[in-house]
Amino acid sequence: MKHLRGIPELGVEGIVRILNLADHMVEVNRRPVPKVPALVGRTVVSLFFEDSTRTRISFETAAKRLSADIMTFSVSTSSVNKGESLRDTIETVSAMGVAAFIVRHKTSGVPWQVSQWTDASIINAGDGWHQHPTQALLDCHTIRTELGRPATEDCLAGLRIAIVGDVRHSRVARSDIQAFTALGARVVVVAPRTLLPPEVHTWPVEVTSDLDSVVADVDVVYMLRMQRERMSEALVPDLGEYSNRFGLDHARAARLRDECLVMHPGPMNRGVEMLVDPADLRRSVVTRQVSNGVAVRMAVLFDVLGDTNPEVAS
Ligand code: ASP
Ligand code: CP
Repeated sequence: MKHLRGIPELGVEGIVRILNLADHMVEVNRRPVPKVPALVGRTVVSLFFEDSTRTRISFETAAKRLSADIMTFSVSTSSVNKGESLRDTIETVSAMGVAAFIVRHKTSGVPWQVSQWTDASIINAGDGWHQHPTQALLDCHTIRTELGRPATEDCLAGLRIAIVGDVRHSRVARSDIQAFTALGARVVVVAPRTLLPPEVHTWPVEVTSDLDSVVADVDVVYMLRMQRERMSEALVPDLGEYSNRFGLDHARAARLRDECLVMHPGPMNRGVEMLVDPADLRRSVVTRQVSNGVAVRMAVLFDVLGDTNPEVAS
């Protein structure tokens, strides 16, 4: 695979390939020295035009564990502030001999545009409302490993997953829905009408605005943050009312099935969508999602840049 820009171009075969590689990377990460020489001599640049904690740090950790050289491009101190365009920035950094760019940008489609300006591989770390493929891959990996399922094309079959909250502005929801359904899960999205995209009826999901009607009947509850920085108007007039209807509170948490997983991509807004402390929940896997992010991003970097023989990552 040359690029990872979105879940559709990866397809179900590609998802399964990454999940299998991720199992191997989990094993590498358990070693006393969690480092392999798989990407020695390759340079990876992280280019984040939008804020990030988890994605950036886990990609940088992943690159180091594969022995790649990682350079962090700091937009706020770069010549972007002197008016240099995105294209000139990419072409300039490329000229230094870069194997891959990890790109996050507030505009949907930027990873596709950027891949026309460089021979390097492009990995999408989140573009606008559009795609966040490595989040979806780490979410699939987390669900299937928590449930003890092997990495197969139907490893999420039989599961019903609720995705709750600001679906409209969520690239995580879009990528997750594509990946979860590709692996056989059923998805129900739960949101107020104003936080659903107009095209939701074309998605392979059930839709409801009644969280109480689904909370006791799902295998995974996936909470989303209200992504206010991506809104151009006030779509939720009263935040307290939103929390009452769409927040995970103690009463709803008490109605979850014993084995129901609670997930959140982070960053979490406590008191808005999360009214309980995930640490108090029986099966919150929010922290596990973060640790799995490193192994899954190692798998993605290896798939994009490594030798076709996985033994090289041994
Ligand atoms: N961190 C995720 C993203 O970048 C989710 C969020 O910001 O709420 O899309
Ligand atoms: N989940 C996620 O992408 O987190 P960051 O925005 O902190 O990278």
